[in-house]
Amino acid sequence: MVTLKAPAKINLFLKIFNRRDDGYHNLVSLLQMVGLYDILTFQDIPAGIRFDVKGMSSDRSNLVVAAAELLRKEAGPYRLKGVAISLIKQIPISAGLGGGSSDAAATLIGLNRLWSLRWPKERLARMGEKLGSDVPFFFYGPTAWVSGRGEMVEPVDAVLQKWAVLVNPGLPISTAWVYERFSKMKLTRKRPKITMTSFNYKKPDVVRVIEKPCNDLEEVTMGIAPSLRAIKKDMGLFGGKGALMSGSGPTIFALFDTYHLAKMAALEIRKKKEGEVWVARVLRRSPFS
Ligand code: C5P
Repeated sequence: MVTLKAPAKINLFLKIFNRRDDGYHNLVSLLQMVGLYDILTFQDIPAGIRFDVKGMSSDRSNLVVAAAELLRKEAGPYRLKGVAISLIKQIPISAGLGGGSSDAAATLIGLNRLWSLRWPKERLARMGEKLGSDVPFFFYGPTAWVSGRGEMVEPVDAVLQKWAVLVNPGLPISTAWVYERFSKMKLTRKRPKITMTSFNYKKPDVVRVIEKPCNDLEEVTMGIAPSLRAIKKDMGLFGGKGALMSGSGPTIFALFDTYHLAKMAALEIRKKKEGEVWVARVLRRSPFS
């Protein structure tokens, strides 16, 4: 049996450059794993893929089954036994925290171990790309710049604040809708002044990123969820650094130097009943490594 903790991610920075012919958007983002986890276990069974989930309805988690099927297909399904996968869901869904992508990465890593395939992580990451744009990051975390669709990953060794407070107001957001709306509102047909390639050559220092947080998608999501502005402001008032929406939202996070400061801020924010609040470690080591 293999058990894995699949961590959530936050986007410390997210800039979008252009819409591509395949409908996706070229972006540059700085991703960071945080200590809020889904738990997956993988157990040998004679044949087939069995899946059960606690914490959400099972039809939402088909990325795990898709990942297992993809791996079986690539390995030649007749060589392998079956697997029973169970998932305990703790990362909120459609929240901008990459829970589904992390579960998919965990499934590829878990089955690679269970079935003793010994495939390198580069190969698994390339398979992960087919399952979702954020999946490859989870093979190279805890901290990395990603670009392209999200599939080009460049790990960085950053010394960040040790704790994060996350607030999820609990309105599920469709990532596809947010990107579509951003495209219509913000992207013109003119060539952008800065391209993804030129930005990639001169990426800001991670310290600067925290001082000047930027997520291009904030405006879109905040347009339909105005309460996010108040949450973000409160995070700053209670001492959080780099307060920002994660991914396409709606989760808002901020960073804190100590557990005590993070806990105090979380207490104050909980009083305001703005959403579900977590204090999570900013991971210095990937739970997958
Ligand atoms: O890759 P993933 O399935 O997670 O993406 C969900 C949706 O978000 C895509 O269908 C697409 O509409 C949008 N997206 C995008 N550009 C990206 C990543 C995601 O347009 N780089």
